Amino acid sequence: MMYTLLLQSHSLLRYALLIFIVATLIKAFWGLRNNLVFDRIADKLSFFTVLAAHLQFLTGIILYWISPILKWGRSYSGSWMSDTFLRYWMLEHLVGMLVAIVFITLGRILTKKTSIDVQKYKRLFLFFLLALILIIIMIPWPFRPVIGRSWF
Ligand code: HEM
Repeated sequence: MMYTLLLQSHSLLRYALLIFIVATLIKAFWGLRNNLVFDRIADKLSFFTVLAAHLQFLTGIILYWISPILKWGRSYSGSWMSDTFLRYWMLEHLVGMLVAIVFITLGRILTKKTSIDVQKYKRLFLFFLLALILIIIMIPWPFRPVIGRSWF
């Protein structure tokens, strides 16, 4: 029950996160190109991206403990590292997404560490772009062999 609910939230929340990252990237790109001031909208967009990313982390870490797949992985007597499916869920998804979440958090923090607006947009753009690429690679999209899941 709790497991299905969390898994569904975690699955749907990916789209909220992706939308916020892309929106922030467009805003940052536009700000850089036209030398705009770093406004409230830029600040709010990056805030909601961080919020969505941290919610993914929170739901993910709980899933990591209660998921039957992860329980199976932890009790696996063989070497789960040499199993594509288990290695993805035990290690790759977690580490890849964790790094992406750190990039997102850092990107926003660094906008506060400079008073130069172009610098703010640059940092946001660079860190969020790296995070976006990593997240797209690490999502278990339906077309991925072995680890693929449904769209929703
Ligand atoms: C950017 C952040 C993340 C995104 C976009 C993301 C995305 C996803 C997606 C799309 C699924 C498949 C859901 C389904 O089958 O319906 C999934 C499953 C899962 N994620 Fe994440 N995830 C993220 C971060 C994390 C983190 C940080 C952890 C661990 C701490 C984590 C742990 C898990 C687990 C344990 C499952 C599935 C377990 C199961 O199927 O039983 N995720 N994630």
